[in-house]
Amino acid sequence: MAPAYCRNSGKGQLIHVNCLAKPSPALSTDELSPFSYGLQRTAPDLHNRVDNDLIRPKFPGMSMKIPEEIKQDFSREPLDAKSLLPDPFDQFEAWFSQACAENLPAPNAMSLATASADGSPTVRMVLLKVYDRDGFVFFTNYGSRKAQQIAENPRVSLLFPWFSMGRQVTITGIAQRIPTAASLRYFLSRSRGSQLGAWTSDQSSVISSRTVLETTLARMKQKFSTGEIPLPDFWGGFRVTPETIEFWQSQPDRLHDRFVYVLDDANSWSIERLAP
Ligand SMILES: Cc1cc2nc3c(=O)[nH]c(=O)nc-3n(C[C@H](O)[C@H](O)[C@H](O)COP(=O)(O)O)c2cc1C
Repeated sequence: MAPAYCRNSGKGQLIHVNCLAKPSPALSTDELSPFSYGLQRTAPDLHNRVDNDLIRPKFPGMSMKIPEEIKQDFSREPLDAKSLLPDPFDQFEAWFSQACAENLPAPNAMSLATASADGSPTVRMVLLKVYDRDGFVFFTNYGSRKAQQIAENPRVSLLFPWFSMGRQVTITGIAQRIPTAASLRYFLSRSRGSQLGAWTSDQSSVISSRTVLETTLARMKQKFSTGEIPLPDFWGGFRVTPETIEFWQSQPDRLHDRFVYVLDDANSWSIERLAP
């Protein structure tokens, strides 16, 4: 059963649920009513109270104030079907080049969402290092949580959040390890410090303190004091081969433009407009 702060009051249709703000255990049953929190509202209630209070918890200290002056509207020229390139990789390249030209911070930073076999999701940023018609490549530790989840369930999603351009690109697809020779080529192009970092961090494992990292780094520096640092067998690239690629362009009044390219069985891309 859903926790109390997520449940419908039974007085009407559930229209808003915010499960992030949990009630303190000290509150009375009456206070646990969804109405006292403003966490969920029913349709009749909405008719009476259509103001900000609907989404703001009543209790001081339970909500974070979001400054009203935060810039939200990054609308620019609309995106229409005619201006889209037929191939999504060409379209990605056009937008990625623009993101680089407009000096966006880390335009190659992308969120990578993975899920374990039982469906538990996790998301984190990784850096896109290569892309071509075969897919989008990032590098990581093959023992990390993300790699373990990919081993259980190769279906992943990527998101490029190009806020200041009012754009996002979302990708769904299948992640696979790239060949060791390709990982080696990339590893050798990295700085010695980054190479030692890869050897040092047993990524996603629990460690007692930073000293663990510093001690291991010192040991690795000694171990690889001369010559080329070899590629760790627990480190390398994943390529995400896309099945869908969606381009989202901010437009006024939340009527954004969205186009998704979908790979069909004949290996060609169709394009659909989606409601924002
Ligand atoms: C901007 C940015 C870029 C990152 N790039 C990478 C990356 O390319 N590879 C990587 O393994 N971790 C990268 N990280 C760290 C990951 O977000 C994450 O903390 C780490 O990979 C462990 O994730 P996991 O425990 O879910 O496997 C980056 C973090 C940030 C904020």
